[in-house]
Amino acid sequence: MKFFVDTADIDAIRELNDLGMVDGVTTNPSLILKSGRDILEATKEICDLVEGPVSAEVVAVDFDQMLKEGEHLATIAPNVCVKVPLTWAGLRVCKILTDNGTKVNVTLCFSANQALLAAKAGATYISPFIGRLDDMNIDGMDLIQDIRTIYDNYGFETQILAASIRSANHMKDAALMGADVATAPPAVISKMIDHPLTKNGLDQFVKDAKEAGIKIV
Ligand code: G3P
Repeated sequence: MKFFVDTADIDAIRELNDLGMVDGVTTNPSLILKSGRDILEATKEICDLVEGPVSAEVVAVDFDQMLKEGEHLATIAPNVCVKVPLTWAGLRVCKILTDNGTKVNVTLCFSANQALLAAKAGATYISPFIGRLDDMNIDGMDLIQDIRTIYDNYGFETQILAASIRSANHMKDAALMGADVATAPPAVISKMIDHPLTKNGLDQFVKDAKEAGIKIV
């Protein structure tokens, strides 16, 4: 499973990128707001830093303006992936940009039918929002499983990008369900390493190494 980082915080991206944990980045208007950055500048900077796709989201909801925005975002860097909402206008823009060779991430997916439409429109990525479904007492992972089954039934190449990931368990479950990618906030990726037995075991090894006088170099 590929790891995307769901943030526009350049320092956080750099830190994880140096560890080889960043296969791509996703942003959205809320994350741009949080960063306090200009979308075009921030996207350019992130695209220069990471090799993989960087999703930058349109803000218009009508087709004409959304297409203009998508085409403009696509000029920022070769690794920009234009993010559009799961509406008919978004799918029209998706089809046009895809046909022109631009990567497209269709976002705000909450049903298998929506994911089927995005695949038909040629989306590079479909972003089902796990956490927001969980918030409504609907198991977000069931949606990942349904989309996986449907895409595999027909050989759709659209990649499942599990989004709205809120916990390390979400990462594990997305991987078990066969999501192609999971995008998570940096704090969630950092949490994935935690296990009390690792910490306790290491404490003991450090203590015993000291007592044994072990010196390697
Ligand atoms: O990837 C989508 C994400 O940014 C939304 O997450 O936690 O606001 O549902 P959340």
